Amino acid sequence: MVSTVTPRPIAWVTTQSPDGALNAAPYSFFNAMGPNPPTLALGLMHDPARGRKDTARNILDTGEFVVNLVPRALAEAMNVTAIDAPAQIDELALAGLSTLPSTKVRPPRIDGSPVQFECSLLSGVATGPKQMVVLGRIEAIHIADDKMLDPARNYVDTRGLDLVARLEGSQWYQQGGERFEMSRPVFDKDR
Ligand SMILES: Cc1cc2nc3c(=O)[nH]c(=O)nc-3n(C[C@H](O)[C@H](O)[C@H](O)COP(=O)(O)O)c2cc1C
Repeated sequence: MVSTVTPRPIAWVTTQSPDGALNAAPYSFFNAMGPNPPTLALGLMHDPARGRKDTARNILDTGEFVVNLVPRALAEAMNVTAIDAPAQIDELALAGLSTLPSTKVRPPRIDGSPVQFECSLLSGVATGPKQMVVLGRIEAIHIADDKMLDPARNYVDTRGLDLVARLEGSQWYQQGGERFEMSRPVFDKDR
């Protein structure tokens, strides 16, 4: 399944434990689920050795998280944060990253990520004994000024975001890629 549903976008999730320990990790079981209100989903599996991952525990304990999207320039740093470190280790510091304060939730945003979604937990659904889906409501969206083509009309420079996506295996990623254009048919006009 994971070798066929590709490319997958990567949610680089920042969370905090109830006592404030900062955590960051990438999650590619991720997508947008609806625009109004803006909603997203994450798939979190247990770690074979540690059980529930820090991200899952923090989201369930605090009800808050931030999804940062990953540009090519930060791909290696993102990979560093996937390390299976103990809960008290701040993976952002390990990867040499800095953070920016959020406006609606406590976990901070990753500096250098061009798009960040501040989220509250809508629902956590166990989809198996060792996996769950988290539904998040996006409370605030940040997009870097230089990635907006026309801020008045909310036009984003999607290609300029230069986001990376996950492919098959544990080590394959995609940057860019071929595009093609195709208009959607309209029954009254095209039949
Ligand atoms: C690009 C990438 C995507 C990943 N996607 C997922 C995912 O969708 N679900 C998951 O449970 N783990 C995923 N992982 C593994 C976690 O990032 C890894 O287990 C991490 O150590 C979890 O950290 P945490 O305990 O701080 O949350 C992914 C790793 C990478 C590098």
